[in-house]
Amino acid sequence: MRTLVKNIKELVGVERTPQLRKQGKEMAVLETVKDAYLLVENGRIKAFGPMNEWSGTADKEVDATGRMVMPSFCDSHTHIVYANSREHEFVDKIRGLSYEEIAKRGGGILNSAKATAAASEDELYDMAKQRLEEVMRLGAGAIEIKSGYGLSTESELKLLRVIRRLKETSPMTIKSNFLGAHGIPMEYRGHQEDYVDLVINEMIPKVAGEGLADFIDVFCDQGFFTVEDTARILEAGIRHGMRPKIHANEMAVSGGVQVGVKYNAISVDHLEQMGDAEIECLKGSDTMPTILPGCAFFLNLPLSPARRMIEAGLPVAMASDYNPGTSPSGNMQLILSMASIRYRLTPEEAINATTLNTAYAMGVSREVGSIAVGKKANFYITKPISSYEYMPYAFGENKVERVFLNGTEF
Ligand code: NIG
Ligand code: FE
Repeated sequence: MRTLVKNIKELVGVERTPQLRKQGKEMAVLETVKDAYLLVENGRIKAFGPMNEWSGTADKEVDATGRMVMPSFCDSHTHIVYANSREHEFVDKIRGLSYEEIAKRGGGILNSAKATAAASEDELYDMAKQRLEEVMRLGAGAIEIKSGYGLSTESELKLLRVIRRLKETSPMTIKSNFLGAHGIPMEYRGHQEDYVDLVINEMIPKVAGEGLADFIDVFCDQGFFTVEDTARILEAGIRHGMRPKIHANEMAVSGGVQVGVKYNAISVDHLEQMGDAEIECLKGSDTMPTILPGCAFFLNLPLSPARRMIEAGLPVAMASDYNPGTSPSGNMQLILSMASIRYRLTPEEAINATTLNTAYAMGVSREVGSIAVGKKANFYITKPISSYEYMPYAFGENKVERVFLNGTEF
């Protein structure tokens, strides 16, 4: 099956020599082809180039006159398997309570865990599926999904089985992440090392036994899991074949970045609290610093120093953190806008941060994240727009018109 997308006003994010990620100055490089064609064969990108160089036949033709073709967003950090929204806590926060205060009194993650434990696997699947479809329509083609609203062996396994079903049924590229160490259940307060033991001795072996997780995650931060807890959990995860990918430095300069880099995490995420030592430590590592603009926006947190990181030669990725407590949106178009508006990334840097670099942060940048021959044909056609810079510029507007995943239109 060959599909030709023709008369593309500008084909954005093409790579002739594909890279696994872009860092420092390279992040400003975004190759495009004006007045282009894109040929898809059997779900993969077969060829692209200027329209006047196209010759041949295709089974199906799609006319993209006046429109951009963009690589699908990759959202490398989400928590979309949960039962309830948390707008009441949102109102508490507006009235002055902090995220940490809400967590201390048993709200926050524990509030979600209670409702999620009460929901059946089928119910959770239906809810997550709906969220997945919604973000797909908004241009996402790959997504990482975490467990973490279970916090008991049984519930964590239930969440991970939901993610497995999503992998089996969705056209999106999906990676699963075991986040048993997301919150400390009430009954373990004061002796959280016993909960860490449960994660290590019971949860991880069972999760690995069913092959349910690609990654192992820990919320390593002030008021949550310590650097020592994190190290123990990551070691156990690694022994069971899961690569670390952690929450770090959201509430405090917690040592999270350092422990992540030490265990060769594929990404360290959040990074609202970054000193020079954290930036230094990331240099030369394989770890992708990942910023979550939706969370900082929603919680009014300080902004992660994205420009400083790029100027230090680091790569930067930006993901949605879609979850009910700190970022109740998985709209990657909005993340793209925030990347430019709030973090001062140029449109080129912002597009790389939300496509190729997030693909790297979930271990799939050989397969997706740019328009390159041999990669999965995951892209979207925009509405008629004037330039790719319009994508971050027109925040809040849905610019996606048609979505193609593995070469098929959805
Ligand atoms: O990435 N920071 C930890 N975990 C989530 C929030 C979870 C919640 O509040 O429900 C996050 O922001
Ligand atoms: Fe998160």
